[in-house]
Amino acid sequence: MAVGIEIDADLLKSEIKKTYSSVSQEPSKDFVFPTGRAWAEDLGYPEELANVPELAVESFAGVANPWQLGRLEPGERVLDLGSGAGTDSLIAAQMVGAGGSVTGIDMTPQMLAKARAAAAELGASNADFVEAEAERLPFADASFDVVISNGVIDLIPDKDAVFAELHRVLAPGGRMQIADVTIQNPVSEEGRRNIDLWTG
Ligand SMILES: C[S@@+](CC[C@H](N)C(=O)[O-])C[C@H]1O[C@@H](n2cnc3c(N)ncnc32)[C@H](O)[C@@H]1O
Repeated sequence: MAVGIEIDADLLKSEIKKTYSSVSQEPSKDFVFPTGRAWAEDLGYPEELANVPELAVESFAGVANPWQLGRLEPGERVLDLGSGAGTDSLIAAQMVGAGGSVTGIDMTPQMLAKARAAAAELGASNADFVEAEAERLPFADASFDVVISNGVIDLIPDKDAVFAELHRVLAPGGRMQIADVTIQNPVSEEGRRNIDLWTG
Protein backbone atom coordinates (compact mmCIF):
# COMPACT_ATOMS: atom_id res chain seq x y z
CA MET A 1 0.00 0.00 0.00
CA ALA A 2 1.27 3.48 -0.88
CA VAL A 3 2.47 5.64 2.00
CA GLY A 4 -0.19 7.96 3.47
CA ILE A 5 -3.21 6.31 1.84
CA GLU A 6 -5.26 4.32 4.28
CA ILE A 7 -7.74 2.45 2.16
CA ASP A 8 -8.81 -1.17 2.21
CA ALA A 9 -7.16 -2.41 -0.99
CA ASP A 10 -9.26 -5.61 -1.16
CA LEU A 11 -12.51 -3.72 -0.72
CA LEU A 12 -11.42 -1.20 -3.38
CA LYS A 13 -10.62 -4.04 -5.82
CA SER A 14 -13.99 -5.65 -5.28
CA GLU A 15 -15.77 -2.30 -5.86
CA ILE A 16 -13.71 -1.69 -9.02
CA LYS A 17 -14.64 -5.15 -10.30
CA LYS A 18 -18.33 -4.37 -9.66
CA THR A 19 -18.10 -1.06 -11.53
CA TYR A 20 -16.30 -2.48 -14.57
CA SER A 21 -18.35 -5.64 -14.63
CA SER A 22 -21.32 -3.30 -15.04
CA VAL A 23 -19.51 -1.38 -17.83
CA SER A 24 -19.06 -4.71 -19.61
CA GLN A 25 -22.57 -6.10 -19.00
CA GLU A 26 -24.67 -2.91 -19.25
CA PRO A 27 -22.70 -0.71 -21.66
CA SER A 28 -25.59 1.62 -22.47
CA LYS A 29 -26.06 2.63 -18.83
CA ASP A 30 -25.10 6.18 -17.77
CA PHE A 31 -21.84 6.07 -15.85
CA VAL A 32 -20.09 8.98 -14.12
CA PHE A 33 -17.44 8.66 -16.85
CA PRO A 34 -17.90 8.59 -20.64
CA THR A 35 -17.86 5.26 -22.51
CA GLY A 36 -18.32 3.80 -25.97
CA ARG A 37 -17.41 4.40 -29.62
CA ALA A 38 -18.51 8.06 -29.77
CA TRP A 39 -16.17 8.80 -26.86
CA ALA A 40 -13.22 7.08 -28.53
CA GLU A 41 -13.95 9.00 -31.75
CA ASP A 42 -14.12 12.29 -29.79
CA LEU A 43 -10.68 11.47 -28.37
CA GLY A 44 -9.31 11.23 -31.92
CA TYR A 45 -8.63 7.50 -31.93
CA PRO A 46 -6.74 6.14 -34.97
CA GLU A 47 -8.39 4.64 -38.07
CA GLU A 48 -7.97 1.08 -36.74
CA LEU A 49 -10.83 1.84 -34.32
CA ALA A 50 -13.30 1.37 -37.18
CA ASN A 51 -12.41 -2.35 -37.40
CA VAL A 52 -12.72 -3.05 -33.67
CA PRO A 53 -15.94 -5.01 -33.00
CA GLU A 54 -18.76 -3.20 -31.23
CA LEU A 55 -18.64 -5.84 -28.49
CA ALA A 56 -15.36 -4.29 -27.35
CA VAL A 57 -15.90 -0.62 -28.16
CA GLU A 58 -19.34 -0.40 -26.51
CA SER A 59 -17.48 -1.00 -23.20
CA PHE A 60 -14.52 1.30 -23.94
CA ALA A 61 -13.88 3.29 -20.76
CA GLY A 62 -10.57 5.02 -21.45
CA VAL A 63 -9.84 8.49 -20.14
CA ALA A 64 -7.72 9.91 -22.97
CA ASN A 65 -5.86 8.88 -26.14
CA PRO A 66 -2.60 6.92 -25.67
CA TRP A 67 -2.17 6.85 -29.48
CA GLN A 68 -1.32 10.56 -29.43
CA LEU A 69 2.05 9.38 -28.15
CA GLY A 70 2.68 7.43 -31.35
CA ARG A 71 1.81 4.32 -33.31
CA LEU A 72 3.30 0.86 -32.87
CA GLU A 73 5.73 -0.85 -35.23
CA PRO A 74 5.02 -4.18 -36.96
CA GLY A 75 6.45 -7.06 -34.93
CA GLU A 76 6.39 -5.33 -31.52
CA ARG A 77 5.38 -7.22 -28.36
CA VAL A 78 2.77 -5.17 -26.52
CA LEU A 79 1.30 -5.32 -23.01
CA ASP A 80 -2.06 -3.56 -22.50
CA LEU A 81 -2.30 -2.97 -18.76
CA GLY A 82 -5.96 -3.05 -17.66
CA SER A 83 -7.22 -3.89 -21.13
CA GLY A 84 -10.93 -3.82 -20.22
CA ALA A 85 -13.09 -5.01 -23.13
CA GLY A 86 -10.08 -4.82 -25.45
CA THR A 87 -10.43 -1.70 -27.62
CA ASP A 88 -6.80 -0.56 -27.32
CA SER A 89 -5.49 -4.13 -27.51
CA LEU A 90 -7.31 -4.74 -30.78
CA ILE A 91 -6.05 -1.46 -32.24
CA ALA A 92 -2.54 -2.51 -31.18
CA ALA A 93 -3.04 -5.97 -32.72
CA GLN A 94 -3.75 -4.35 -36.10
CA MET A 95 -0.69 -2.09 -35.83
CA VAL A 96 1.84 -4.79 -34.86
CA GLY A 97 0.47 -7.32 -37.37
CA ALA A 98 0.89 -11.07 -37.47
CA GLY A 99 4.57 -10.88 -36.54
CA GLY A 100 3.81 -9.00 -33.33
CA SER A 101 1.77 -9.86 -30.26
CA VAL A 102 -0.56 -8.14 -27.82
CA THR A 103 -1.27 -9.34 -24.30
CA GLY A 104 -4.07 -7.64 -22.40
CA ILE A 105 -4.30 -8.13 -18.66
CA ASP A 106 -7.26 -7.22 -16.48
CA MET A 107 -8.65 -8.32 -13.13
CA THR A 108 -12.36 -8.17 -14.12
CA PRO A 109 -13.40 -11.50 -15.69
CA GLN A 110 -16.44 -10.06 -17.51
CA MET A 111 -14.20 -7.54 -19.30
CA LEU A 112 -11.76 -10.31 -20.29
CA ALA A 113 -14.60 -12.41 -21.71
CA LYS A 114 -15.70 -9.54 -23.96
CA ALA A 115 -12.14 -8.85 -25.07
CA ARG A 116 -11.58 -12.50 -26.02
CA ALA A 117 -14.87 -12.67 -27.94
CA ALA A 118 -14.07 -9.41 -29.76
CA ALA A 119 -10.58 -10.66 -30.69
CA ALA A 120 -12.14 -13.82 -32.15
CA GLU A 121 -14.66 -11.71 -34.10
CA LEU A 122 -11.84 -9.55 -35.52
CA GLY A 123 -9.70 -12.62 -36.24
CA ALA A 124 -6.87 -11.17 -34.15
CA SER A 125 -4.97 -14.36 -33.39
CA ASN A 126 -2.00 -12.24 -32.22
CA ALA A 127 -3.98 -10.93 -29.21
CA ASP A 128 -4.61 -12.77 -25.98
CA PHE A 129 -6.09 -11.78 -22.65
CA VAL A 130 -4.94 -12.89 -19.21
CA GLU A 131 -6.61 -12.48 -15.82
CA ALA A 132 -4.01 -10.76 -13.63
CA GLU A 133 -3.41 -7.81 -11.32
CA ALA A 134 -1.24 -4.92 -12.46
CA GLU A 135 0.75 -5.02 -9.21
CA ARG A 136 1.81 -8.68 -9.82
CA LEU A 137 2.32 -9.43 -13.50
CA PRO A 138 2.63 -13.12 -14.45
CA PHE A 139 5.33 -12.50 -17.08
CA ALA A 140 9.08 -13.00 -17.27
CA ASP A 141 11.46 -10.04 -17.16
CA ALA A 142 11.90 -8.16 -20.45
CA SER A 143 8.87 -9.80 -22.12
CA PHE A 144 7.53 -6.68 -23.90
CA ASP A 145 8.68 -3.84 -26.16
CA VAL A 146 5.80 -1.47 -25.37
CA VAL A 147 3.28 -1.01 -22.56
CA ILE A 148 0.01 0.74 -23.36
CA SER A 149 -2.61 1.57 -20.73
CA ASN A 150 -5.69 3.75 -20.54
CA GLY A 151 -7.46 4.81 -17.35
CA VAL A 152 -6.11 2.09 -15.09
CA ILE A 153 -3.18 3.22 -12.92
CA ASP A 154 -5.28 6.01 -11.39
CA LEU A 155 -7.48 3.25 -9.88
CA ILE A 156 -4.57 1.57 -8.08
CA PRO A 157 -3.28 2.88 -4.72
CA ASP A 158 0.12 1.15 -4.91
CA LYS A 159 1.52 2.90 -7.99
CA ASP A 160 5.11 2.07 -6.99
CA ALA A 161 4.31 -1.65 -7.33
CA VAL A 162 2.77 -1.10 -10.77
CA PHE A 163 5.71 0.91 -12.12
CA ALA A 164 8.20 -1.58 -10.67
CA GLU A 165 6.40 -4.35 -12.56
CA LEU A 166 6.27 -2.34 -15.79
CA HIS A 167 9.99 -1.63 -15.50
CA ARG A 168 10.65 -5.33 -14.92
CA VAL A 169 8.61 -6.70 -17.84
CA LEU A 170 9.77 -4.10 -20.38
CA ALA A 171 12.81 -5.03 -22.47
CA PRO A 172 15.75 -2.60 -22.43
CA GLY A 173 14.83 0.38 -24.61
CA GLY A 174 11.12 -0.40 -24.23
CA ARG A 175 8.55 2.37 -23.91
CA MET A 176 5.23 3.20 -22.26
CA GLN A 177 2.25 4.98 -23.82
CA ILE A 178 -0.05 5.72 -20.90
CA ALA A 179 -3.25 7.76 -20.84
CA ASP A 180 -4.41 8.40 -17.31
CA VAL A 181 -5.84 10.81 -14.77
CA THR A 182 -3.49 12.93 -12.70
CA ILE A 183 -4.24 15.43 -9.98
CA GLN A 184 -2.62 18.82 -9.56
CA ASN A 185 -3.58 19.46 -5.93
CA PRO A 186 -3.33 17.35 -2.78
CA VAL A 187 -6.46 15.31 -1.99
CA SER A 188 -7.81 15.49 1.57
CA GLU A 189 -7.53 12.47 3.86
CA GLU A 190 -11.33 12.15 3.71
CA GLY A 191 -11.24 12.16 -0.09
CA ARG A 192 -8.55 9.47 -0.15
CA ARG A 193 -10.70 7.20 1.98
CA ASN A 194 -13.76 7.63 -0.27
CA ILE A 195 -14.00 4.43 -2.35
CA ASP A 196 -16.46 6.05 -4.81
CA LEU A 197 -13.84 8.66 -5.74
CA TRP A 198 -11.35 5.85 -6.50
CA THR A 199 -13.59 3.59 -8.59
CA GLY A 200 -14.77 6.26 -11.07
C1 LIG B 1 -11.43 2.63 -16.74
S1 LIG B 1 -11.35 0.92 -17.20
C2 LIG B 1 -10.37 1.07 -18.67
C3 LIG B 1 -10.38 -0.19 -19.50
C4 LIG B 1 -9.67 -0.06 -20.85
N1 LIG B 1 -8.27 0.30 -20.67
C5 LIG B 1 -10.37 0.94 -21.74
O1 LIG B 1 -9.74 1.97 -22.08
O2 LIG B 1 -11.53 0.71 -22.08
C6 LIG B 1 -10.21 0.29 -15.99
C7 LIG B 1 -9.91 -1.19 -16.13
O3 LIG B 1 -8.80 -1.48 -15.25
C8 LIG B 1 -9.03 -2.70 -14.61
N2 LIG B 1 -8.26 -2.68 -13.36
C9 LIG B 1 -8.37 -1.81 -12.35
N3 LIG B 1 -7.47 -2.07 -11.38
C10 LIG B 1 -6.75 -3.14 -11.81
C11 LIG B 1 -5.65 -3.89 -11.27
N4 LIG B 1 -5.14 -3.60 -10.07
N5 LIG B 1 -5.16 -4.93 -11.99
C12 LIG B 1 -5.71 -5.25 -13.20
N6 LIG B 1 -6.73 -4.58 -13.76
C13 LIG B 1 -7.25 -3.54 -13.09
C14 LIG B 1 -10.53 -2.75 -14.43
O4 LIG B 1 -10.97 -4.08 -14.26
C15 LIG B 1 -11.04 -2.11 -15.70
O5 LIG B 1 -11.30 -3.04 -16.72
